[in-house]
Amino acid sequence: MTDDLDALLARTESDLASAADLRGLDAVRVAALGKSGALTTLLKGLGAVPADQRKERGAALNALKQRLEAAIESRRAVLEEAALDARLAAERVDVTLPARPAPSGAIHPISRTIEELTAIFGAMGFRVVEGPDIEGDWYNFAALNIPDHHPARQDQDTFYLPGTIEGRRTVLRTQTSPLQIRTMISQEPPIRVIAPGRTYRSDHDATHSPMFHQVEGLVIDRFITLGHLKGCLTDFLRAFFGIGDLPVRFRSSYFPFTEPSMEVDIGWNRKTGELGGGGDWLEILGSGMVHPRVLANCGLDAREWQGFAFGMGIERITMLKHGMADLRPFFEGDVRWLKHYGSNPLAPATLHEGM
Ligand code: DAH
Repeated sequence: MTDDLDALLARTESDLASAADLRGLDAVRVAALGKSGALTTLLKGLGAVPADQRKERGAALNALKQRLEAAIESRRAVLEEAALDARLAAERVDVTLPARPAPSGAIHPISRTIEELTAIFGAMGFRVVEGPDIEGDWYNFAALNIPDHHPARQDQDTFYLPGTIEGRRTVLRTQTSPLQIRTMISQEPPIRVIAPGRTYRSDHDATHSPMFHQVEGLVIDRFITLGHLKGCLTDFLRAFFGIGDLPVRFRSSYFPFTEPSMEVDIGWNRKTGELGGGGDWLEILGSGMVHPRVLANCGLDAREWQGFAFGMGIERITMLKHGMADLRPFFEGDVRWLKHYGSNPLAPATLHEGM
């Protein structure tokens, strides 16, 4: 009479042994103990068993149920452990794999050039000063001895803004030279500053942008000469371009705020665009001894204090250094361009050879 139960036990045990995973195990459990499982069906049929056998049959079924449950649970423990082992093996970290590349940004070439020239001038004792992009006419023009008829003041060059600053027209600064004025009226000499920053002119083509960058330099002390100017700028240019013997030429010129004034050229090869030798000259910046009238406008006595100033375009020296042909991508925000020309944020700007 218990043959059918023995058979059920044997079948279930054999099914359990061949259940390869927890899913298979569950199928065996449902087949035996589920709502319409084999044992459940036998239990349901208990009512039809003759009354004198029912008790015995019920006890046997219950015993079988317990055995089945125990068998299922022990098989479950084995399978769960196997599943965990398999996961641990599959997820083991292979420390010999190369690290995944971490996405990182890049320093914009303009920022990089500012970092570099700050490092170079910093080593020569210059501090960085900053001033407003929105300037008064006095700082941008008048105090710099730039006369009313000067072409830079024309509306087509200068962005004039509504309103006044200290009673004079408001402009977007056309040069960083107003920082000469702001520094001299707010600091006692001796002065050694550079002022990198944005400048604005109404101009737009492959080599001009309405917004661009300059760096101004100013040195004021008691015994500053043209020799200091030449030495300082020669050292800077050689360090910045990383060419220890870069030819540097000082050519007499005119700026309203310096006297004498000089344009500075560096040697290059016009045909190949290579800097250094080649016998051609490329204009790179403006400079001169600060005009006595500019000193006077800032309350400095030209018989006691003198010095030199210079100004150069940051895009221009950046393009020359890296052989870039077009100015426009500087401000287009194309990440492919930035990936190519940008620099590693973790590599600090250092002084170059030739310094
Ligand atoms: N401010 C001039 C410009 O924008 C550049 C310049 C020339 C600055 C001579 C100077 C200087 O300080 O001495 O073209």
